[in-house]
Amino acid sequence: MGARITGMGSYLPPKTITNADLERLIHTSSKWIVQRTGIKTRHHLNSDDDPAIMGIEAGRDALSQAGVSPNEIDLLLVATNFPDMICPGSAPFIAAGLDLDQTPFFDIKAGCSGFVYGLVVANGLIHSGGFQRILLVGTEALSRVTDWADRKTCVLFGDGAGAVLLEGAAPGEGILGSALHADNDKALLLYLPAGGTKFPATESTVKNGDHYLKMEGAGVYRSAVPMMESSTREAVAVAGLHLSDIDWLIPHQANIRIIHSLARRLHLDKDQVIINVDHAANTSTASIPIALDEAARAGRIKHGDLVVMTAFGAGVTYGAVLIQI
Ligand SMILES: CC(C)(COP(=O)(O)OP(=O)(O)OC[C@H]1O[C@@H](n2cnc3c(N)ncnc32)[C@H](O)[C@@H]1OP(=O)(O)O)[C@@H](O)C(=O)NCCC(=O)NCCS
Repeated sequence: MGARITGMGSYLPPKTITNADLERLIHTSSKWIVQRTGIKTRHHLNSDDDPAIMGIEAGRDALSQAGVSPNEIDLLLVATNFPDMICPGSAPFIAAGLDLDQTPFFDIKAGCSGFVYGLVVANGLIHSGGFQRILLVGTEALSRVTDWADRKTCVLFGDGAGAVLLEGAAPGEGILGSALHADNDKALLLYLPAGGTKFPATESTVKNGDHYLKMEGAGVYRSAVPMMESSTREAVAVAGLHLSDIDWLIPHQANIRIIHSLARRLHLDKDQVIINVDHAANTSTASIPIALDEAARAGRIKHGDLVVMTAFGAGVTYGAVLIQI
């Protein structure tokens, strides 16, 4: 027995930042941002907002959609790259906000592929028989690690959270195939240098901006499409299916050009690809569950549809999961 999704939820902070807002802050143009990335707006927390609120709201939505109360969950998994605190991470704060009592929790850090990795972890744990209901949250407060002096990165990211409740599936339902991979040679394509144990916080790390996200955009771009293409093909093959069987593709929402190029290489119709990068920007681990929840609530993705979710991100990690909704 594997896992199926029985509830979905998402949360985007109410404050939106448009490209025109960015034009007033940095040397950029809305035209450049839209042409290069497809992004028109992104959502940001206010500076005094608690980041945990995003995962709590998304998790609450997923539980209420499934009609499951918080004390019926066996495990909370939180995929995030920029936790509320380096220790103890994000999961305990989301668990507290959801009023989970003694429920175990842990964070998963696997770059922007964290949600896809989380699906595979949850599927395995449910398959093992030790867990019946796992709440998987992808949440990211990227505005808190954005360098506003770096126009190559600051236009790309947004805040948000998405969540799914996973429960046992009958054979032939739920997660049907998956593929996870990584390439450690590319660890420094996307990273946040300081604040960990290698470069603890000092006056000079703060002065140098080493607590902000750094990215080698062109390198990421070159790797992203072939990585998501190969893992998508592999996940579909593992399930014994063909790309022509797939109803929907939900790629990590990093850049519209990456998404279109992936769809072309997979010979999928543009209308089969779920896209929300235009209004949510890149929300890292949250991007796929937010896009899934929005598409399901809009009546596009329906019960029984075959959906491939694929991502790449810091590490670099990449992978795909094929799931029947
Ligand atoms: C970031 C990204 C949009 C940049 O696009 P690009 O076409 O590679 O652009 P470049 O970095 O080569 O820069 C091209 C020019 O635009 C300029 N530029 C960069 N950011 C700009 C901005 N926000 N506004 C205006 N101009 C900008 C550069 O300075 C450069 O100018 P120059 O030629 O005079 O030096 C693109 O590389 C990308 O999307 N990469 C993948 C990022 C990603 O997916 N990250 C998430 C991983 S999970």
